[in-house]
Amino acid sequence: MKILVTGGAGFIGSHVVRRLVNGYPDHQIYNLDKLTYAGNLENLKDIESKQNYHFVKGDICDEAFIVSLFEENKFDSVVHLAAESHVDRSISGPKAFLQTNILGTANLLDAYRLYGNISVGKFYHISTDEVYGELGETGKFTETTCYKPNSPYSASKASSDHLVRAWHKTFNLPVVISNCSNNYGSNHFPEKLIPLVIKNVIERKPIPVYGEGKNVRDWLFVEDHAAAIDLILHHGRVGETYNIGGENEWQNIEIVKLICRILDEKLNRRIGESSELITFVKDRAGHDFRYAIDASKLKMELGWKPEVTFEEGIEKTIDWYLKNQDWVQRVSSGEYQHYYEQQYSQR
Ligand code: NAD
Ligand code: TYD
Repeated sequence: MKILVTGGAGFIGSHVVRRLVNGYPDHQIYNLDKLTYAGNLENLKDIESKQNYHFVKGDICDEAFIVSLFEENKFDSVVHLAAESHVDRSISGPKAFLQTNILGTANLLDAYRLYGNISVGKFYHISTDEVYGELGETGKFTETTCYKPNSPYSASKASSDHLVRAWHKTFNLPVVISNCSNNYGSNHFPEKLIPLVIKNVIERKPIPVYGEGKNVRDWLFVEDHAAAIDLILHHGRVGETYNIGGENEWQNIEIVKLICRILDEKLNRRIGESSELITFVKDRAGHDFRYAIDASKLKMELGWKPEVTFEEGIEKTIDWYLKNQDWVQRVSSGEYQHYYEQQYSQR
């Protein structure tokens, strides 16, 4: 099997590539990534010399390049993760999201339709629960919840989900989609809530909490997501959608306080010292109140369940950031630093 993973140098993609390379030595795993600010080959150092791993630098928006890559390789399956992924960036600059998430997906779908080994494999599109919009205090997203995306990011992901469905219906392309809740774990770019809080606590910088910190997210350990992706790639039913989530809802402020408490202990700080860094800042525009996933379809059909409790996962994650502060420094320099100033200097 020849499998193309897009966005494999990013946060979730690197965990997926590692799992496929290590778990399927007979499969050839191609990682196609543009290496934007969020993509980092350091994330895959441990597997880069494996015989069944191949890195290709390229942009999914470059149609001619994508066509020639598929023509040459005739991939059996595609696991499509490449995307612009940060909601705040989509508010300050939506165009890149429309380009990569919508047009980039269309290029891949068409190249797979024309040159992929569609009688053997499938086009697996990795998406987000944010396409469903926001929930109030109760309820959960199921696979039949109506799409109601609120941010430019989620609207672009919703559009790409629709394209994938359309290529299935119109061209009979074998596709599968999964919509997952918020991930956390190692190699997470420190612009997202959890790694940003860990970084700022370590560096004794203010911790920006949007609004009153009451918004709720359902957090899943990234390796549990990678395990679900592996399962759906190999056993998911063509034409289906699977929701993936951690059944692990937290208000932002509670998660921030938890990280502060754990780091006070690990850094031998006075109890309560890190939480003094919490700073309530202007809310995100259109900020979705709550996300929560009903993952029972995936559990019942394919037998998936999260293996890592939140207690274990957050401890592992914090330990990883403490041990890899040089990684954090490297990815935080340059472009990211400039972006960080733009986002937070006015808040
Ligand atoms: P990320 O931003 O960490 O990584 C994205 C990767 O895509 C990077 O390696 C980047 O270099 C690459 N990329 C971006 N534009 C590209 C282009 N034009 N051509 C080729 N490569 C390009 O994102 P992530 O958090 O790992 O998310 C991966 C996927 O999972 C995305 O599709 C996202 O929508 C989805 N998702 C993420 C979460 C989450 O909590 N992070 C939850 C559910 C779904
Ligand atoms: P984020 O990690 O950006 O993921 P998403 O917006 O895709 O859910 O944000 C998670 C939650 O944390 C969200 O409710 C916004 C909030 N948040 C803050 O309060 N402060 C921050 O600096 C960031 C980045 C996010």
